[in-house]
Amino acid sequence: MKVMSVFGTRPEAIKMAPLVKKLNGDPDFESVLCVTAQHREMLDQVLSLFELTPDYDLNIMKPNQTLSMITANVLRGMEEVLVKERPDIVLVHGDTSTTFSSALAAFYQQIPVGHVEAGLRTYDMYSPFPEEMNRVLTSHLSAVHFAPTERNRQNLLREGVDISKIVITGNTVIDALLEVAGKPYAFTDDTLRKIDFENRRVITVTCHRRENLGEYMEHIFSAIRDIAEDFKDVEVIYPVHLNPKVREEANRILGGHERIHLIDPLQYQPFVNLMAKSYFIITDSGGMQEEAPSLGKPVLVVRKETERPEALEAGTVKLVGVDRDNIYNTAAELLSDKDAYAGMSEASNPYGDGRASERIVETLRNLSKNK
Ligand code: UD1
Ligand code: UDP
Repeated sequence: MKVMSVFGTRPEAIKMAPLVKKLNGDPDFESVLCVTAQHREMLDQVLSLFELTPDYDLNIMKPNQTLSMITANVLRGMEEVLVKERPDIVLVHGDTSTTFSSALAAFYQQIPVGHVEAGLRTYDMYSPFPEEMNRVLTSHLSAVHFAPTERNRQNLLREGVDISKIVITGNTVIDALLEVAGKPYAFTDDTLRKIDFENRRVITVTCHRRENLGEYMEHIFSAIRDIAEDFKDVEVIYPVHLNPKVREEANRILGGHERIHLIDPLQYQPFVNLMAKSYFIITDSGGMQEEAPSLGKPVLVVRKETERPEALEAGTVKLVGVDRDNIYNTAAELLSDKDAYAGMSEASNPYGDGRASERIVETLRNLSKNK
């Protein structure tokens, strides 16, 4: 079976890397890797960590790219690659514009699509934007759906997806996390090496969502700045996304504070180690909501909704919205109230056992036998 895996951004790369490595090492498959490079530097960081060399690189990233630019460039680039390779199946991941456009390109060539991380929903088409719609559309374009959890499967069933086309796998992010978290590591980054993790409480921050740009990001960053100001043993570490709009806002509101460290995006391995050494995390990331329960690190999610309610139920993740006072008060409570902190810092694992890629590969093997 010829399997073409396609991804383009940092989170897709992290979550597809364990699967692509398994396919590469399995004689039953001819594995072809195509990256769109919707992200450039942040994608290359992951490719180098997992030692993956793409067979095709569409290299589409432009500064301040619009959604239409990404969609059109991926669609055009993928057509050429698909016509040349004619894989038996195309694997896409999650909810980015690379995901949706690659699935659409495969559909135009009448090549079946396998959707990894299928069935997550907020049921608000504008939040996360455009990811919720990317996921819904990708589901409709897919022939096989790899759902991380039972809840994700139920979401797909409600939309009329054939039960025999859905496989519950767990989330491949746990495969990646376990691979990386298990290895000994010492920070090489200058800022991180100087942080006294024993005597300081580190809050790790990431924030990049399109729907948070502007007013909401201002609220989020003001709350974080005030927390750093009011709690003198806190160090904030924020590896800032390379989106120029995010960097401008972060520098404007959070820059110049001696205990707020704005650094470049970290390689996955140092980042996982940073999360593991943090007191808690403030983020609007999707993937980090899945990683944090495994690490037993409280996460305040600065979004209005989440497509990952399992993490809320696990207790490690709290949805705090985008209101400055609510974010400040919840973070202040975690820093002041030991019981509140203890209640959120139990490790649990709603997203799987680190064997999601294995289940996906076995499903593909069975599909190939029954072809
Ligand atoms: C994209 C995904 C989002 C995902 C996020 C992960 C879409 C619509 N959005 O959003 O779902 O959560 O990636 O980070 O698919 N840039 C660089 N170098 C990089 C990466 C980005 O310079 O390595 C800059 C570029 O100027 C680019 C901008 O960031 O134009 C925005 O990148 P883009 O992929 O359009 O949006 P993200 O917010 O990263
Ligand atoms: N991450 C990383 N380096 C960083 C920040 C995040 O490797 O500096 C990892 C993080 O552990 C998670 C993924 O990147 O696995 C999340 O990516 P991102 O926030 O870009 O996207 P999202 O999860 O919101 O889709």
